[in-house]
Amino acid sequence: MKLLVTGGAGYVGSVCAARLLESGHEVVVVDDLSTGHEDAVPDGARLVRADIGEVAGELLAEGFDGVLHFAAKSLVGESMVDPAKYWDGNVLTSLRLLAAMREHGTPRLVFSSTAATYGEPDQVPIVESAPTRPTNTYGATKLAIDHAITSYAKAHGLAAVSLRYFNVAGAYGRFGERHTTETHLIPIVLQVAMGTRERISIYGADYPTADGTCVRDYIHVLDLAAAHLLALDHAVKGEHQVYNLGTGTGFSNKQVVEACREVTGHPIPAEFADRRAGDPATLVASSAAATAALGWTPERTDLRTIVSDAWEFTRARG
Ligand code: UFG
Repeated sequence: MKLLVTGGAGYVGSVCAARLLESGHEVVVVDDLSTGHEDAVPDGARLVRADIGEVAGELLAEGFDGVLHFAAKSLVGESMVDPAKYWDGNVLTSLRLLAAMREHGTPRLVFSSTAATYGEPDQVPIVESAPTRPTNTYGATKLAIDHAITSYAKAHGLAAVSLRYFNVAGAYGRFGERHTTETHLIPIVLQVAMGTRERISIYGADYPTADGTCVRDYIHVLDLAAAHLLALDHAVKGEHQVYNLGTGTGFSNKQVVEACREVTGHPIPAEFADRRAGDPATLVASSAAATAALGWTPERTDLRTIVSDAWEFTRARG
């Protein structure tokens, strides 16, 4: 297939673009490089350096079999202080992309949705029919886009799949996580192991969890990429399918720090700090629907494997 990958210079987008190319697809990456990196675009992909909201029509006029839409603003904290950046950058941009797909008859869409669409869950593991009550603007914008996609699928015959990622981690060779503003737990802990940060602050030790720290469901970025390839094959005209992607197992922040100590051999000094606003105690996915419908099963579920791959990537970059 000829595929347009928006945000293909970013973390998840670059890994997926690499796997799509390795599977024989033709890939065009569109990325404005506001948070992505030009050297993260895999060899063999054509890079168009632009905002997808501005060039969607022109690009899709070339004729594409599908779009994988990763490009987004994705910092939860920033979304609360600068909501316009998220409503414009995520929702407006995606509406322009959907309009261009409709105009040029692009048949398939795979969209990067998020666990943040659910907010604080009543029950874990979280199933797709759980209430969607996002606690931050980032999650609200992704949910709004999910609703728009549902309408376009019904009204205009789009074949769409939204994938709701839980905590993405790990790396694939030279493709990994490198945000200028890093807020995610594993890369921050690995910065301590690299010596570029003194200690890790664990936000909150009084949550209603086994050890008092938050619990998250870490999914290896390669397993995530595999789900995108399957979603492309299983997209059905006129339907919008929504799937959670996680492993179904939660690890506490303390367990993550401990796994990083084991993998890196570094003592990683840690301290407890106040809770971070908006953090749910436990987020664990039920991915039963993705398994049943897409035939997807995560393979790299061991936390040490995930951390080892991230560590190898971090060390290689120095
Ligand atoms: N944490 C720390 N110290 C840090 C950084 C994080 O203790 O320095 C904790 C957080 O408080 C949280 C856990 O580590 O308890 C995981 O935090 P991350 O920031 O790594 O990930 P989140 O669970 O907050 O966010 C992830 C995605 C978001 C998505 C969200 C869905 O990164 O994009 O899941 O809920 F919106």
